[in-house]
Amino acid sequence: MSPFSARTDFARTWNPLARALAERRERGLPLLDLTETNPTRVGLPMPEPAPLAHPDALGYVPEPLGLLSAREAVAAYLAGRGAPVHPEHLVLSASTSEAYGWLFKLLCEPGDNVLVPAPCYPLFEYLARLEGVGLRHYRLPFAQGFGLDVGELAAARDARTRAVLVVNPGNPTGHYLREGELEALGSWCAREGLALVSDEVFSDFAWDEDPGRVATVAGRSLPMPTFGLSGLSKVAGLPGLKLGWMHVGGPDAARREALERLESLADTYLPVNTPVQLSLRPWLAHAPRFQEAVLARVKENRRLLRDARPRHAPWSVVPAEGGWSAVLRIPLEPGEEATCLALLDAGVGVHPGFFYDFTGGAWLVLSLLTHPDVFAQALGPLARVLAASG
Ligand SMILES: Cc1ncc(COP(=O)(O)O)c(C=O)c1O
Repeated sequence: MSPFSARTDFARTWNPLARALAERRERGLPLLDLTETNPTRVGLPMPEPAPLAHPDALGYVPEPLGLLSAREAVAAYLAGRGAPVHPEHLVLSASTSEAYGWLFKLLCEPGDNVLVPAPCYPLFEYLARLEGVGLRHYRLPFAQGFGLDVGELAAARDARTRAVLVVNPGNPTGHYLREGELEALGSWCAREGLALVSDEVFSDFAWDEDPGRVATVAGRSLPMPTFGLSGLSKVAGLPGLKLGWMHVGGPDAARREALERLESLADTYLPVNTPVQLSLRPWLAHAPRFQEAVLARVKENRRLLRDARPRHAPWSVVPAEGGWSAVLRIPLEPGEEATCLALLDAGVGVHPGFFYDFTGGAWLVLSLLTHPDVFAQALGPLARVLAASG
């Protein structure tokens, strides 16, 4: 018998694409990598690290929900984005990923499940599995612009479902939750007794204005417990600082109970380091500069991508409203993996749609965060390979 748990027995086999990529790297061949989403590696503005050397940086203040001064800094940031919230309703964690682990513990018994969107960035599988929690996927229909359909939620739910997770805007689909979708979702969750977890890490990256969009659930009066998540990784392009936050909302009694339980839960780990909490204001002050540069980059890369598409090409750029990615719809034949392998042969790295659980067609995902020189160089081979696949 293995001395190790089944839930840490992760798949360790490589798919043909990962193998081909590793081989290419081993042979020292160049790669125009259109999968890079690490904001610290693509020539975007970075702040000076000096604020980390705060005079009290080495002090230890074990505040489970986070230092009040740091939670006030997040509240001021959210207020500036049109979402006034109380700092006492915010909980800090060492990344959004960690907040998910806490929420799965808070909301689920082992064996329960949460509803997660498909397609979506593959973030939740391991996080849920490590908590003994299952995932049930609800489809975001392409015909509805990858928008939320309560009928799909109802079809996915079973007796052990405890919460609905939305990613707003979707990663990589770039679809924002609409006011009408949130209203329908709120009524359904309240009726079914489910909590709502709203991942809003990309919500500051809308490509244009649209008052019909929901930017955040924070500060809204919704009829079920709500948890709005974001953090420095995307908001300020600083994933290495490991600072996430969640806004706890919903009916007062449920909110109070959630915060009290989260306080005990966080007290068990106390994971958020002091230097980053003490310097949160400067990092959030850097956010607008970072976001402006990202939006200019992403919009320009998307324009180049659309311009690179010949008029009757067998592929198209899927409409979207924000985020850091572009989704391409490509011909069913030869399909995602063969197309990715052909692109790799041509020196261009992209992600296949199956990596994000796309169905109902064949899809590729590109990072619009890619350095513009790399992006521009990759477009010629990309268009050539995709033309040949039609
Ligand atoms: C939708 C989404 N949520 C959360 C995260 C993780 O963020 P963090 O670095 O705060 O754990 C990612 C990472 O790419 C993401 O795509």
